Amino acid sequence: MKKLQAWFPTLIYAERLLTKGGQAFNAELLRECQQIREYDQPGVNWSAKNYPGGYTSYGSMDQLHRFSSTFDQLRSHIDKHVRVYARVQDWDLRGGKLQMTDCWVNIMPRGCAHSFHVHPQAVVSGTYYVKTPRGSSGLKFEDPRLTHMMAAPARKTARKPEQQAHILYPAKATQVILFESWLRHEVPASLIEEERVSISFNYHWL
Ligand code: NI
Repeated sequence: MKKLQAWFPTLIYAERLLTKGGQAFNAELLRECQQIREYDQPGVNWSAKNYPGGYTSYGSMDQLHRFSSTFDQLRSHIDKHVRVYARVQDWDLRGGKLQMTDCWVNIMPRGCAHSFHVHPQAVVSGTYYVKTPRGSSGLKFEDPRLTHMMAAPARKTARKPEQQAHILYPAKATQVILFESWLRHEVPASLIEEERVSISFNYHWL
């Protein structure tokens, strides 16, 4: 064994949703995201209380893959990425499957933020980016050991990004990001006027 080795990796996956036809499919999704907001009055009301400044269908329509064929298509594309992710993780699913259980839209204007959280009950969570104007907030992950670091000194520089306490993934339209649902993450407040649109989801082991 080498003298010094890193153990217990935390795997974050980022990849283009589709290798072909991604832009056209994305345009269709964007239209639907905007339509959903237009008629989802309960969601608009829910967002006013729970997602200040922005719109999310999390409190009203959180299974969009069961509701719309476009979102179900998105689900089938994301399934493929989740299979790759599960394989790299070496998970033994014992005949079970990772299945999308929740899928919802988020629209963030200036000032809207989503502070640090986890996705309880789920195994894999992630986001697909639909519209990310220049300056859009990324997705920030926190070192899962951070809360245990009672007296650990801070690290000097960003020379080894994998040793920093946080890592920021830029939001890129047509890209999907996957992570384990227990990994704390946040979307810092949006500093731009134009809306950032994303679709978040959970996978359970069923
Ligand atoms: Ni989240």
